[in-house]
Amino acid sequence: MAKHAAAPLAATDRRVDRLLGLLTEHPMVVLSGAKIARQVGVSRSAVWRWVQKLRALGVRIQGHPKTGYQLVTVPDILVPQVLAPRLRATAFGRRIHHFFKIDSTNARALQLAGEGEPHGTLVIAEEQTAGRGRLGRAWHSEKTSGLYFSVILRPPLAPQHAPVLTLAAGLAAREAAAGVTGFNNLELRWPNDLLFGGKKVCGILTEMQADAQRLHHVVVGIGVNVNHTRFPKELEPIATSLRLAGGRTYSRLDVLVHLLEAFDRLYNRLLSDGPTSIVTRFTEVSPYARGRRVRVKTPWEEFTGTTAGLDDTGVLRVKRDDGKTVAVLAGDVTEAD
Ligand code: BTN
Repeated sequence: MAKHAAAPLAATDRRVDRLLGLLTEHPMVVLSGAKIARQVGVSRSAVWRWVQKLRALGVRIQGHPKTGYQLVTVPDILVPQVLAPRLRATAFGRRIHHFFKIDSTNARALQLAGEGEPHGTLVIAEEQTAGRGRLGRAWHSEKTSGLYFSVILRPPLAPQHAPVLTLAAGLAAREAAAGVTGFNNLELRWPNDLLFGGKKVCGILTEMQADAQRLHHVVVGIGVNVNHTRFPKELEPIATSLRLAGGRTYSRLDVLVHLLEAFDRLYNRLLSDGPTSIVTRFTEVSPYARGRRVRVKTPWEEFTGTTAGLDDTGVLRVKRDDGKTVAVLAGDVTEAD
C-alpha cells in the first residue's frame, strides 16, 4: 500500500501543553504570569499569547498579565497533559501526538508508523483540513466539536484478520457513546458506522501496511460527531451528533477515554481469544448483521438482499434477492426500502 504524506501542521507546542497542565493542576489558584513563564520556560508575553490562543479554542481562563491567570473550568481539550493520566491503564497513553490543526490524523499516523512509531501511539487533532473517509470520501472535521484521532497498532495477526480491528473499534465506539450519553438505540452498521436514528455519529477508517504473510502496521482512524450543532447541507440527511441527538453537550474527553479503554480491552481479547470473539460480539449487537433488508453498493455492483451474518474474518454475507449468498468485502450497506 502506498505511503501517505502528511503536512506537519500546528503540532501542539509542548510548552502550550505544559501551560495548560499547570493551570489544570491548580484550578482554584491564580497563577502569576511571571511564575507560569518561569515554570514553562518562556517569556511572559508568550504566556499571554498562548492564553489568547487557548481562549480562542474555548478554554475559559480568567485574568490577564497583571493579575495572573486562573482556569475557570477544566477544558474539554485533548492535549497530552490532560489525556495521558486518564489513559494510563491502556496501551494508548504513552505516545500522544496532538495537533490543533492537521490535514488528516490517519495520514499523519501512517507516516509516523512508517518511521517506526510504536504500537499504541495516538494521533489526535482538534480540527482536520482533509479528514479522510472510506471509499475516497472526505470526513467533515469541524474545529473542537468532534473527535478526530488515529491509533497505530502492530498486531501479531494475519492480514486477512485486519478488518476485525474495524469491528472492534466500532464496538468500542458504541460502548463509549452509549456509556456517556445513556442512549440505548445506537446502531452499529457493518463494517464501521455508528448510527443514531439512521444517521451517522461515528465513522472508522482502517488503513494498513502489509505483505502477504504479515501485517506491518495498522492505523485505525476514528471520527465521532460529539458536539456539532449543524452539518453542511449535503450531510444533513445522513449525519448527526451526540449533541443533536441528546439536546446537550458531552465531554469529548470522556467519550475518547471511554472509547480507548473499551478498544484496549477488545484488542486484548482479540489477541487472547481470537477474531471469532469480536465477530460474535459484533453479530450479537449489530442489527445489520443478520436478517436485515439492505442495499449493497460495491465499487463493482449494486444489489439488494438480506444480511446473513459475518464469516470468521468479519466479512458480511448477504443473501441476494436472486437467492445467491455472496461475501461483501467492501462497499456501502444501507437499509433497503
Ligand atoms: C467513514 O465512515 O467514512 C470513515 C471516517 C473516518 C474519519 C476519521 S477522523 C480521524 C481519522 N483521520 C482521518 O482522516 N479519517 C479518520
